[in-house]
Amino acid sequence: MATVVISNLEKVYSEAKGPGVKVVHGINLEIKDREFMVLVGPSGCGKSTTLRMVAGLEEISGGTISIDGTVVNNVLPKDRDIAMVFQNYALYPHMSVYENMAFGLKLRKFPKAEIDARVREASAMLGLDAYLDRKPKALSGGQRQRVAVGRAIVRKPKVFLFDEPLSNLDAKMRVSTRTEISKLHARLDATMIYVTHDQVEAMTMGDRICVMKDGRIMQVATPLELYNKPENVFVAGFIGSPPMNFFKGRLQKSSTAAGLLEFTETNDKAAPVRVTLDAALSAKGAAHAGKEIIFGVRPEDVLDTATSASPNPAHTAEVKVEVSEPMGAETYLYLSTGVTNFIARVRPTDRFDVGQSVKVTFKMEAAHLFDPATEHVLK
Ligand SMILES: Nc1ncnc2c1ncn2[C@@H]1O[C@H](COP(=O)(O)OP(=O)(O)OP(=O)(O)O)[C@@H](O)[C@H]1O
Ligand SMILES: [Mg+2]
Repeated sequence: MATVVISNLEKVYSEAKGPGVKVVHGINLEIKDREFMVLVGPSGCGKSTTLRMVAGLEEISGGTISIDGTVVNNVLPKDRDIAMVFQNYALYPHMSVYENMAFGLKLRKFPKAEIDARVREASAMLGLDAYLDRKPKALSGGQRQRVAVGRAIVRKPKVFLFDEPLSNLDAKMRVSTRTEISKLHARLDATMIYVTHDQVEAMTMGDRICVMKDGRIMQVATPLELYNKPENVFVAGFIGSPPMNFFKGRLQKSSTAAGLLEFTETNDKAAPVRVTLDAALSAKGAAHAGKEIIFGVRPEDVLDTATSASPNPAHTAEVKVEVSEPMGAETYLYLSTGVTNFIARVRPTDRFDVGQSVKVTFKMEAAHLFDPATEHVLK
Protein backbone atom coordinates (compact mmCIF):
# COMPACT_ATOMS: atom_id res chain seq x y z
CA MET A 1 0.00 0.00 0.00
CA ALA A 2 1.31 3.43 -0.89
CA THR A 3 -0.99 6.38 -1.06
CA VAL A 4 0.57 9.81 -1.43
CA VAL A 5 -1.44 12.73 -0.06
CA ILE A 6 -0.40 16.28 -0.84
CA SER A 7 -2.20 18.89 1.29
CA ASN A 8 -2.01 22.66 0.87
CA LEU A 9 1.51 22.25 -0.43
CA GLU A 10 3.49 25.43 -0.94
CA LYS A 11 6.97 26.24 -2.15
CA VAL A 12 8.71 29.55 -1.76
CA TYR A 13 12.21 29.83 -3.21
CA SER A 14 14.16 32.32 -1.12
CA GLU A 15 15.94 35.24 -2.74
CA ALA A 16 19.04 37.05 -1.58
CA LYS A 17 16.77 40.04 -0.90
CA GLY A 18 13.01 40.25 -0.51
CA PRO A 19 10.31 37.85 0.57
CA GLY A 20 11.14 35.05 -1.88
CA VAL A 21 9.19 33.74 -4.84
CA LYS A 22 6.19 31.47 -4.37
CA VAL A 23 6.08 28.89 -7.14
CA VAL A 24 3.65 26.32 -5.69
CA HIS A 25 0.44 27.83 -4.31
CA GLY A 26 -1.20 25.45 -1.84
CA ILE A 27 -1.98 22.44 -4.01
CA ASN A 28 -4.06 19.42 -2.92
CA LEU A 29 -3.70 16.08 -4.63
CA GLU A 30 -4.24 12.49 -3.60
CA ILE A 31 -2.40 9.77 -5.48
CA LYS A 32 -4.05 6.42 -4.89
CA ASP A 33 -2.32 3.16 -4.13
CA ARG A 34 -0.88 1.70 -7.37
CA GLU A 35 -2.06 4.67 -9.40
CA PHE A 36 -0.08 6.11 -12.31
CA MET A 37 -0.47 9.86 -11.80
CA VAL A 38 0.92 12.25 -14.39
CA LEU A 39 1.75 15.87 -13.56
CA VAL A 40 1.64 17.88 -16.77
CA GLY A 41 1.86 21.57 -17.57
CA PRO A 42 3.98 24.16 -19.37
CA SER A 43 7.59 24.87 -18.48
CA GLY A 44 8.01 26.55 -15.12
CA CYS A 45 4.57 25.60 -13.71
CA GLY A 46 6.11 23.80 -10.71
CA LYS A 47 6.01 20.12 -11.71
CA SER A 48 9.62 19.30 -10.81
CA THR A 49 9.45 21.38 -7.65
CA THR A 50 6.39 19.43 -6.52
CA LEU A 51 7.98 16.07 -7.35
CA ARG A 52 11.21 17.02 -5.60
CA MET A 53 9.27 17.93 -2.46
CA VAL A 54 7.68 14.45 -2.54
CA ALA A 55 11.18 12.97 -2.92
CA GLY A 56 12.55 15.09 -0.10
CA LEU A 57 15.10 16.81 -2.34
CA GLU A 58 13.46 20.18 -1.82
CA GLU A 59 12.30 21.66 1.46
CA ILE A 60 8.52 22.07 1.91
CA SER A 61 7.56 25.70 2.61
CA GLY A 62 3.97 25.02 3.68
CA GLY A 63 1.45 22.19 3.91
CA THR A 64 2.17 18.50 4.20
CA ILE A 65 3.04 15.44 2.16
CA SER A 66 2.17 12.04 3.54
CA ILE A 67 3.10 8.63 2.24
CA ASP A 68 0.96 5.77 3.53
CA GLY A 69 -0.57 7.97 6.19
CA THR A 70 2.72 9.23 7.62
CA VAL A 71 3.65 12.88 7.21
CA VAL A 72 7.12 12.86 5.65
CA ASN A 73 7.91 16.60 5.73
CA ASN A 74 10.81 15.92 8.08
CA VAL A 75 11.75 12.45 6.90
CA LEU A 76 15.07 12.20 5.04
CA PRO A 77 14.87 11.24 1.34
CA LYS A 78 16.59 7.91 1.95
CA ASP A 79 14.00 6.98 4.57
CA ARG A 80 10.93 7.81 2.43
CA ASP A 81 10.91 4.52 0.54
CA ILE A 82 10.74 6.19 -2.85
CA ALA A 83 12.94 6.01 -5.95
CA MET A 84 13.34 8.75 -8.50
CA VAL A 85 14.31 8.56 -12.17
CA PHE A 86 15.63 11.77 -13.72
CA GLN A 87 15.80 13.11 -17.26
CA ASN A 88 19.62 12.97 -17.37
CA TYR A 89 19.86 9.35 -16.05
CA ALA A 90 22.49 10.32 -13.41
CA LEU A 91 24.41 7.05 -13.85
CA TYR A 92 27.91 6.56 -12.42
CA PRO A 93 30.17 6.63 -15.51
CA HIS A 94 32.95 4.48 -14.01
CA MET A 95 30.60 1.68 -12.97
CA SER A 96 29.20 -1.09 -15.17
CA VAL A 97 25.47 -1.45 -15.74
CA TYR A 98 25.40 -4.19 -13.09
CA GLU A 99 27.26 -2.06 -10.55
CA ASN A 100 25.07 0.96 -11.27
CA MET A 101 21.97 -1.06 -10.48
CA ALA A 102 23.54 -2.75 -7.45
CA PHE A 103 25.07 0.36 -5.91
CA GLY A 104 22.08 1.61 -3.90
CA LEU A 105 21.51 -1.82 -2.37
CA LYS A 106 25.22 -2.18 -1.54
CA LEU A 107 25.11 1.13 0.33
CA ARG A 108 22.15 -0.19 2.27
CA LYS A 109 24.19 -3.30 3.13
CA PHE A 110 21.95 -5.82 1.41
CA PRO A 111 23.40 -9.38 1.28
CA LYS A 112 25.26 -10.13 -1.94
CA ALA A 113 22.90 -12.90 -3.04
CA GLU A 114 19.85 -10.69 -2.57
CA ILE A 115 21.49 -7.89 -4.56
CA ASP A 116 22.36 -10.29 -7.36
CA ALA A 117 18.84 -11.72 -7.50
CA ARG A 118 17.24 -8.27 -7.64
CA VAL A 119 19.63 -6.91 -10.28
CA ARG A 120 19.10 -9.97 -12.48
CA GLU A 121 15.32 -9.76 -12.11
CA ALA A 122 15.30 -6.06 -13.08
CA SER A 123 17.74 -6.63 -15.92
CA ALA A 124 15.58 -9.40 -17.37
CA MET A 125 12.48 -7.21 -17.06
CA LEU A 126 14.18 -4.36 -18.92
CA GLY A 127 16.05 -6.41 -21.53
CA LEU A 128 19.46 -5.39 -20.19
CA ASP A 129 21.00 -8.86 -19.75
CA ALA A 130 23.40 -8.42 -22.66
CA TYR A 131 24.74 -5.13 -21.32
CA LEU A 132 25.43 -5.84 -17.64
CA ASP A 133 29.22 -5.52 -18.02
CA ARG A 134 29.17 -2.38 -20.15
CA LYS A 135 29.87 1.13 -18.93
CA PRO A 136 27.12 3.74 -19.51
CA LYS A 137 29.08 5.52 -22.22
CA ALA A 138 28.83 2.39 -24.38
CA LEU A 139 25.02 2.47 -24.26
CA SER A 140 22.39 4.33 -26.27
CA GLY A 141 20.25 6.96 -24.58
CA GLY A 142 17.32 4.57 -24.34
CA GLN A 143 19.48 1.85 -22.79
CA ARG A 144 20.91 4.30 -20.26
CA GLN A 145 17.43 5.34 -19.27
CA ARG A 146 16.51 1.68 -18.79
CA VAL A 147 19.47 1.28 -16.45
CA ALA A 148 18.25 4.30 -14.49
CA VAL A 149 14.80 2.68 -14.27
CA GLY A 150 16.45 -0.62 -13.26
CA ARG A 151 18.30 1.11 -10.46
CA ALA A 152 14.93 2.33 -9.16
CA ILE A 153 13.25 -1.08 -9.52
CA VAL A 154 15.86 -3.02 -7.51
CA ARG A 155 15.08 -0.85 -4.51
CA LYS A 156 11.45 -2.09 -4.54
CA PRO A 157 10.24 1.29 -3.38
CA LYS A 158 6.69 2.12 -2.34
CA VAL A 159 6.57 5.00 -4.81
CA PHE A 160 8.36 5.66 -8.11
CA LEU A 161 8.92 9.25 -9.18
CA PHE A 162 9.83 10.12 -12.77
CA ASP A 163 10.88 13.59 -13.89
CA GLU A 164 10.70 13.84 -17.71
CA PRO A 165 12.58 10.53 -18.12
CA LEU A 166 12.06 10.41 -21.88
CA SER A 167 12.92 13.93 -22.96
CA ASN A 168 16.52 13.11 -23.91
CA LEU A 169 15.45 10.32 -26.25
CA ASP A 170 14.65 10.61 -29.94
CA ALA A 171 11.01 10.44 -31.02
CA LYS A 172 10.95 6.71 -31.79
CA MET A 173 12.77 5.70 -28.62
CA ARG A 174 10.44 7.91 -26.64
CA VAL A 175 7.41 6.03 -27.86
CA SER A 176 8.88 2.57 -27.20
CA THR A 177 10.21 3.51 -23.74
CA ARG A 178 6.87 5.08 -22.91
CA THR A 179 5.17 1.74 -23.61
CA GLU A 180 7.79 -0.08 -21.54
CA ILE A 181 7.20 2.15 -18.53
CA SER A 182 3.44 1.59 -18.83
CA LYS A 183 4.02 -2.17 -18.92
CA LEU A 184 6.33 -1.95 -15.92
CA HIS A 185 3.67 -0.12 -14.00
CA ALA A 186 1.21 -2.91 -14.66
CA ARG A 187 3.78 -5.53 -13.71
CA LEU A 188 5.19 -3.89 -10.58
CA ASP A 189 1.84 -2.83 -9.19
CA ALA A 190 3.50 0.26 -7.75
CA THR A 191 2.38 3.82 -7.18
CA MET A 192 4.01 6.10 -9.74
CA ILE A 193 4.12 9.87 -10.16
CA TYR A 194 5.33 10.94 -13.57
CA VAL A 195 6.19 14.48 -14.64
CA THR A 196 6.09 15.58 -18.26
CA HIS A 197 5.29 18.67 -20.29
CA ASP A 198 4.18 16.48 -23.19
CA GLN A 199 0.42 16.11 -23.28
CA VAL A 200 0.61 13.03 -25.53
CA GLU A 201 2.74 11.24 -22.92
CA ALA A 202 0.29 12.34 -20.25
CA MET A 203 -2.73 11.11 -22.19
CA THR A 204 -1.25 7.73 -23.09
CA MET A 205 0.37 6.85 -19.77
CA GLY A 206 -1.72 8.30 -16.96
CA ASP A 207 -4.49 6.59 -15.00
CA ARG A 208 -5.21 10.15 -14.03
CA ILE A 209 -3.62 13.42 -15.07
CA CYS A 210 -3.06 16.50 -12.95
CA VAL A 211 -2.83 19.60 -15.16
CA MET A 212 -0.83 22.42 -13.58
CA LYS A 213 -0.33 26.07 -14.48
CA ASP A 214 1.63 28.72 -12.57
CA GLY A 215 1.96 26.59 -9.43
CA ARG A 216 -1.74 25.75 -9.28
CA ILE A 217 -3.80 22.70 -10.24
CA MET A 218 -6.18 23.36 -13.13
CA GLN A 219 -7.89 19.94 -13.18
CA VAL A 220 -7.31 16.35 -12.07
CA ALA A 221 -9.11 13.67 -14.09
CA THR A 222 -8.73 10.60 -16.28
CA PRO A 223 -7.36 11.28 -19.78
CA LEU A 224 -10.75 11.02 -21.51
CA GLU A 225 -12.51 13.12 -18.89
CA LEU A 226 -9.91 15.85 -19.42
CA TYR A 227 -10.39 15.64 -23.16
CA ASN A 228 -14.17 15.56 -23.18
CA LYS A 229 -14.96 17.63 -20.09
CA PRO A 230 -12.28 20.26 -19.60
CA GLU A 231 -13.04 22.49 -16.63
CA ASN A 232 -11.53 25.62 -18.10
CA VAL A 233 -10.02 27.27 -21.17
CA PHE A 234 -6.49 26.35 -20.12
CA VAL A 235 -7.13 22.59 -19.91
CA ALA A 236 -9.24 22.68 -23.07
CA GLY A 237 -6.40 24.33 -24.97
CA PHE A 238 -3.57 22.29 -23.42
CA ILE A 239 -4.93 18.78 -23.88
CA GLY A 240 -5.41 17.73 -27.50
CA SER A 241 -3.38 18.24 -30.65
CA PRO A 242 -4.13 20.30 -32.64
CA PRO A 243 -5.73 22.16 -29.73
CA MET A 244 -9.36 23.14 -29.25
CA ASN A 245 -10.56 26.13 -31.31
CA PHE A 246 -11.90 29.15 -29.42
CA PHE A 247 -14.19 31.85 -30.80
CA LYS A 248 -14.94 35.05 -28.89
CA GLY A 249 -18.40 36.47 -29.19
CA ARG A 250 -21.81 36.92 -27.66
CA LEU A 251 -24.76 34.71 -26.73
CA GLN A 252 -28.30 35.74 -27.44
CA LYS A 253 -31.78 34.29 -27.94
CA SER A 254 -32.09 32.64 -31.33
CA SER A 255 -34.15 34.65 -33.79
CA THR A 256 -35.32 31.50 -35.56
CA ALA A 257 -35.44 28.64 -33.06
CA ALA A 258 -37.67 29.12 -30.04
CA GLY A 259 -36.01 28.35 -26.72
CA LEU A 260 -32.50 28.08 -28.15
CA LEU A 261 -29.54 30.43 -27.95
CA GLU A 262 -27.29 31.48 -30.77
CA PHE A 263 -23.63 32.39 -30.73
CA THR A 264 -22.37 35.33 -32.77
CA GLU A 265 -18.69 35.85 -33.21
CA THR A 266 -17.33 39.34 -32.51
CA ASN A 267 -16.19 40.18 -36.00
CA ASP A 268 -16.37 43.56 -37.71
CA LYS A 269 -14.10 42.55 -40.59
CA ALA A 270 -16.25 39.94 -42.25
CA ALA A 271 -19.60 38.23 -41.94
CA PRO A 272 -19.53 36.94 -38.38
CA VAL A 273 -19.92 33.29 -37.57
CA ARG A 274 -23.48 32.94 -36.34
CA VAL A 275 -24.66 29.53 -35.18
CA THR A 276 -27.64 28.22 -33.24
CA LEU A 277 -26.72 26.13 -30.22
CA ASP A 278 -28.43 22.83 -29.51
CA ALA A 279 -30.78 22.42 -26.56
CA ALA A 280 -28.16 21.09 -24.14
CA LEU A 281 -25.64 23.86 -24.86
CA SER A 282 -28.42 26.49 -24.77
CA ALA A 283 -29.35 25.27 -21.29
CA LYS A 284 -25.74 25.58 -20.13
CA GLY A 285 -25.50 29.08 -21.52
CA ALA A 286 -28.93 30.26 -20.26
CA ALA A 287 -27.53 32.51 -17.51
CA HIS A 288 -25.17 34.15 -20.01
CA ALA A 289 -27.73 35.16 -22.63
CA GLY A 290 -26.91 38.67 -23.81
CA LYS A 291 -23.34 38.40 -22.53
CA GLU A 292 -19.85 37.85 -23.86
CA ILE A 293 -18.84 34.21 -24.23
CA ILE A 294 -16.07 31.94 -25.51
CA PHE A 295 -17.26 29.17 -27.81
CA GLY A 296 -14.92 26.16 -27.95
CA VAL A 297 -14.94 23.28 -30.43
CA ARG A 298 -12.27 20.68 -31.23
CA PRO A 299 -10.83 20.34 -34.77
CA GLU A 300 -12.50 16.93 -35.24
CA ASP A 301 -15.86 18.52 -34.45
CA VAL A 302 -15.57 21.10 -37.22
CA LEU A 303 -16.98 19.37 -40.30
CA ASP A 304 -17.04 20.35 -43.93
CA THR A 305 -20.74 20.54 -44.83
CA ALA A 306 -20.12 18.94 -48.22
CA THR A 307 -18.93 15.70 -46.63
CA SER A 308 -20.74 15.53 -43.28
CA ALA A 309 -23.80 13.28 -43.30
CA SER A 310 -26.61 15.73 -42.56
CA PRO A 311 -25.32 19.20 -41.78
CA ASN A 312 -27.70 21.31 -39.74
CA PRO A 313 -27.87 24.66 -41.60
CA ALA A 314 -28.30 26.44 -38.27
CA HIS A 315 -24.84 25.24 -37.20
CA THR A 316 -22.91 26.23 -40.30
CA ALA A 317 -20.60 29.09 -41.12
CA GLU A 318 -18.79 30.18 -44.25
CA VAL A 319 -15.04 30.60 -43.76
CA LYS A 320 -11.81 30.81 -45.78
CA VAL A 321 -9.17 28.14 -46.26
CA GLU A 322 -5.68 29.46 -45.38
CA VAL A 323 -3.54 26.33 -45.39
CA SER A 324 -4.21 22.66 -46.04
CA GLU A 325 -1.82 20.29 -44.28
CA PRO A 326 -2.04 16.64 -45.36
CA MET A 327 -0.93 14.37 -42.50
CA GLY A 328 -1.55 11.09 -44.31
CA ALA A 329 -4.43 9.61 -42.36
CA GLU A 330 -6.15 12.99 -42.14
CA THR A 331 -5.75 16.58 -43.27
CA TYR A 332 -5.52 19.64 -41.02
CA LEU A 333 -7.38 22.49 -42.59
CA TYR A 334 -6.35 25.93 -41.30
CA LEU A 335 -9.37 28.22 -41.60
CA SER A 336 -10.17 31.84 -40.88
CA THR A 337 -13.40 33.68 -40.11
CA GLY A 338 -11.69 37.02 -40.75
CA VAL A 339 -10.69 37.48 -37.10
CA THR A 340 -10.39 33.97 -35.70
CA ASN A 341 -8.03 31.36 -37.06
CA PHE A 342 -9.06 27.80 -36.39
CA ILE A 343 -8.42 24.24 -37.47
CA ALA A 344 -10.57 21.44 -38.84
CA ARG A 345 -9.52 17.81 -39.18
CA VAL A 346 -10.91 16.50 -42.44
CA ARG A 347 -10.61 13.39 -44.56
CA PRO A 348 -7.36 13.07 -46.52
CA THR A 349 -9.31 12.61 -49.73
CA ASP A 350 -11.02 16.01 -49.44
CA ARG A 351 -9.29 18.64 -51.59
CA PHE A 352 -9.26 22.34 -50.83
CA ASP A 353 -7.61 25.32 -52.51
CA VAL A 354 -5.95 28.04 -50.50
CA GLY A 355 -8.21 31.09 -50.38
CA GLN A 356 -11.38 29.24 -51.27
CA SER A 357 -14.56 29.62 -49.22
CA VAL A 358 -15.86 26.59 -47.44
CA LYS A 359 -18.97 25.98 -45.40
CA VAL A 360 -18.32 24.26 -42.10
CA THR A 361 -20.67 22.93 -39.49
CA PHE A 362 -19.98 22.52 -35.78
CA LYS A 363 -20.83 19.36 -33.90
CA MET A 364 -22.80 21.08 -31.15
CA GLU A 365 -23.01 18.08 -28.83
CA ALA A 366 -19.21 18.25 -28.51
CA ALA A 367 -18.90 22.05 -28.21
CA HIS A 368 -18.24 24.01 -25.01
CA LEU A 369 -19.03 27.46 -23.64
CA PHE A 370 -16.61 29.28 -21.35
CA ASP A 371 -17.15 32.37 -19.21
CA PRO A 372 -14.58 34.89 -20.51
CA ALA A 373 -14.19 36.47 -17.05
CA THR A 374 -13.33 33.29 -15.11
CA GLU A 375 -12.41 31.08 -18.08
CA HIS A 376 -14.48 28.31 -16.43
CA VAL A 377 -16.63 26.03 -18.54
CA LEU A 378 -20.40 26.53 -18.29
CA LYS A 379 -22.15 23.42 -17.00
N1 LIG B 1 16.34 26.57 -7.06
C1 LIG B 1 15.47 27.49 -7.48
N2 LIG B 1 15.52 28.77 -7.05
C2 LIG B 1 14.63 29.71 -7.44
N3 LIG B 1 13.62 29.45 -8.30
C3 LIG B 1 13.52 28.21 -8.77
C4 LIG B 1 14.42 27.17 -8.40
N4 LIG B 1 14.04 26.02 -9.04
C5 LIG B 1 12.97 26.36 -9.78
N5 LIG B 1 12.63 27.65 -9.62
C6 LIG B 1 11.50 28.36 -10.24
O1 LIG B 1 10.31 27.72 -9.84
C7 LIG B 1 9.37 27.66 -10.90
C8 LIG B 1 8.94 26.22 -11.10
O2 LIG B 1 10.06 25.48 -11.56
P1 LIG B 1 9.99 23.92 -11.88
O3 LIG B 1 11.36 23.47 -12.16
O4 LIG B 1 9.26 23.23 -10.79
O5 LIG B 1 9.10 23.92 -13.21
P2 LIG B 1 8.70 22.72 -14.16
O6 LIG B 1 7.22 22.71 -14.22
O7 LIG B 1 9.38 21.47 -13.74
O8 LIG B 1 9.26 23.22 -15.57
P3 LIG B 1 10.00 22.40 -16.77
O9 LIG B 1 8.91 21.78 -17.59
O10 LIG B 1 10.69 23.48 -17.52
O11 LIG B 1 10.94 21.40 -16.15
C9 LIG B 1 10.04 28.29 -12.10
O12 LIG B 1 9.58 29.60 -12.22
C10 LIG B 1 11.51 28.24 -11.75
O13 LIG B 1 12.19 29.32 -12.33
MG1 LIG C 1 10.86 20.25 -14.59
